[in-house]
Amino acid sequence: MSQDLWTFVDEYINGIVIKPDEALDATLQSAIEAQLPPISVTPAHGKLLHLIASAAGARRILEIGTLAGYSTIWLARALSAGGRLITIEANETHASIARANIERAGLAERVDIRLGAALDVLPQLAAERQPPFDFTFVDADRTRLAEYFDLAVRLSRSGSVIIVDNVVRKGAVAEASSNEPNVVGVRRFNDQLKADTRVDATIVQTVSAKGYDGFAMALVK
Ligand code: SAH
Ligand code: DHB
Ligand code: MG
Repeated sequence: MSQDLWTFVDEYINGIVIKPDEALDATLQSAIEAQLPPISVTPAHGKLLHLIASAAGARRILEIGTLAGYSTIWLARALSAGGRLITIEANETHASIARANIERAGLAERVDIRLGAALDVLPQLAAERQPPFDFTFVDADRTRLAEYFDLAVRLSRSGSVIIVDNVVRKGAVAEASSNEPNVVGVRRFNDQLKADTRVDATIVQTVSAKGYDGFAMALVK
């Protein structure tokens, strides 16, 4: 069992469930050209987000961590008529690359990129009295994951779905002795999740072209 096999099978899976797509392909290409970190969700994972948001009938989507806008495009395409997506990105270069990609995808009207740190922007959204989000994808830095998740729950309603990316980290998350900041951040989030009576949640391990990781899914009660 190895990365080569996971990548090979991911490519096989892409051949079955992922169609060539000008906007999504150009978005990944733009990320390569700008030498952004290769950490966009995989195609199959992007499609999973799209399918879950579609199944939930999401009209309001929140994303934390835009990068080049790849997951943003998958999610914005799940919006039902009149829907809106707000995506939060702290890095100005990432945000401007994402803006061009989202525009190319014809989604500029539906997507609002908020430039800023999530810990600043999330309270702003609350202060603006934004209607609740039906679906949230949390995919920024892991050190403040616990805070992002708590704020995401506050911005949700009963029945909202929250997905948190990268919570397994090659299995390192199970090591209580780790002092790697991302692992510490995920473990603090997990402790909070365990005690959180506002949600029902699960954590799923994954392997893919991006390695061994996993995501959490929570349903707000
Ligand atoms: N969701 C994207 C990948 C996001 S990568 C996709 O799958 O296509 C993580 C992004 O979060 C990076 O662009 C990084 O700049 C941004 N980020 C990191 N810390 C942040 C913070 N505190 N607030 C907002 N964005 C942050
Ligand atoms: C990393 C971040 C991600 O969002 C991801 O999906 C994979 C890896 C990282 O920072 O290592
Ligand atoms: Mg991620």
